[in-house]
Formats: sequence, C-alpha cells, structure tokens
Amino acid sequence: MKPRPITPLGILVQQLEEVLDMAKQAEVTPSVIAGIQQAYVLAAGIDPYLEECTTRESTALANLAQKTAAEDWSKRFSDGETVRQLEQEMLSGHIEGQTLKLFVYMNQAKRILEIGMFTGYSALAMAEALPDDGYIIACEVDSYVAEFAQACFAQSPHGNKIKVEVAPALDTLAKLAQAQECFDFIFIDADKREYVDYFKFILAKDLLTPGGFICVDNTLLQGQPYLPVEQRTPNGEAIAQFNSVVAADDRVEQVLLPLRDGLTIIRRK
Ligand SMILES: C[S@@+](CC[C@H](N)C(=O)[O-])C[C@H]1O[C@@H](n2cnc3c(N)ncnc32)[C@H](O)[C@@H]1O
Repeated sequence: MKPRPITPLGILVQQLEEVLDMAKQAEVTPSVIAGIQQAYVLAAGIDPYLEECTTRESTALANLAQKTAAEDWSKRFSDGETVRQLEQEMLSGHIEGQTLKLFVYMNQAKRILEIGMFTGYSALAMAEALPDDGYIIACEVDSYVAEFAQACFAQSPHGNKIKVEVAPALDTLAKLAQAQECFDFIFIDADKREYVDYFKFILAKDLLTPGGFICVDNTLLQGQPYLPVEQRTPNGEAIAQFNSVVAADDRVEQVLLPLRDGLTIIRRK
C-alpha cells in the first residue's frame, strides 16, 4: 500500500495535485493552470531528487524497510500482538537515516541512546556509523516490534551494537540515570506527548554529555505548530510546546531543519 503523506512537503504536494485537477476541470485560465502546474512540479520533485543525490542505503536497511512495508500493522493491532496501532509511515527511512548516520560520524559518537525504535531503521542506520566498540541503547515499549527489529538486526554485521530495552521510555531513562549512563548522541522519536519529559529528564540527570547532541524527529508535525491553533491535534500541541521549551532553554542551542517531518538538532552547551 502506498504510504499516506505525513510531512508538510508531502501534504503540500498532494494538495497542489488536487488543486491542479480542480483547476483543469473548472477550465480556469491557462496561465493559472500553468502557475499551479509549476508549483506542483517544483514541490513534487524535491523528495525524489534528495533520494537520487543521497548515498544508497545498505542491503540490511533496504530489507528492513521492505519488511516493515509488507507487514499488516492493522491486523497485528486487532489481533492484540502490538500494544497500539503502529504503521509503516513511522519508519524514518533513507534520507533521515543517512542524515543520522552522518551526524554520528561527524560527532564521533560512541554511546548512543534512541528513544522510540519501531522496526529499527534509525537504530541500524546509526549503528552502521559506530566504531566496533560503540553501542546504541534503543528504547521501545512494544515487544512485538522489538522482536521484529531484532530479527532484522541479526541480518546486519552492525546489529550486535544495538541493545534493546523493552519498557516505557521514561522507565528506561530512570534506569539509565540510576546506572549513571551518559551518551554522546540521543535520538528522540517516541511518544510526542512525552517529548518535554524526555528532554527535561535527559538534561536534569546528565544523560547527555556536555557538547553532546540530541536529534528530535517530527518537530514540524505536518505543519501543525505553525498552522492556526484550532487545526492542531494533541500531538501537534505537544510538539508546539516542546519547540517552545527548547527555544527558551539556555542550556542548549538548536536548529530546526525542514527535513522530512522536521528534525531539530540540539547541542548541550
Ligand atoms: C515513530 S516510531 C519510531 C521510528 C524509528 N525511530 C525509525 O526510525 O524507524 C515511534 C516508536 O516509539 C514507540 N513508543 C511510543 N511511546 C513509547 C514510550 N512511551 N516508550 C517507548 N517507546 C515508545 C512506538 O511503539 C513506536 O514504535
């Protein structure tokens, strides 16, 4: 099944396509149709061009993505195998995975924490950039998807760098703080309504080394943080609040990149 658009750009492309069809049917003036057509082509060309210009993913990552797309996630949920409705659109994918991988190289990270693993795409992409003595602790609440990911990790020479913690992420963070663990690089991609809690806990308990980085996914949440407030879902509201909390925190500096559904890079000063 074709994934539904889940990024501001994907939604924009779909809307331009619909408006173009409507304009053609309404027989509006050719110059208006040409203008909408040009806007559509400009927007629709971005993602395929990014794919074309980005280093190809490994076979293990391609297989993991394919296996995730082939899974019937609705059936897994209705059969009670997953604790919540998961969907293939949750997977970060080629461009974001390659971005995270290059960040890990640039940061020369050895200790990585991932909050929200799903089928393991981002975890495995980051693991590919880790040295042999590097490791990732990946938090995931759903045991079905954790096993799914571990079966994929077993197919990669980098899979043994990933340790999966199956529990609510805040419980795992408390356990890691208790053990005085500290990370060079953290990727947050779990429950949007807990993002502020993850961020505050990480800084309060020194889970991130000074000079270390946190990458946070979905910080544009389909445009909801900047669209009119009445169009926001609870997740959109949570992300808007998260973005404000980070912007007001002097302990960090950050940039929100319009990559996919928004990726914020935060550096602890
Ligand atoms: C968007 S997906 C992660 C995608 C993944 N990072 C990737 O690149 O493919 C979010 C995942 O977080 C998990 N999750 C949600 N709430 C959680 C929580 N409180 N603790 C741990 N995991 C959670 C979900 O089960 C889901 O698998």
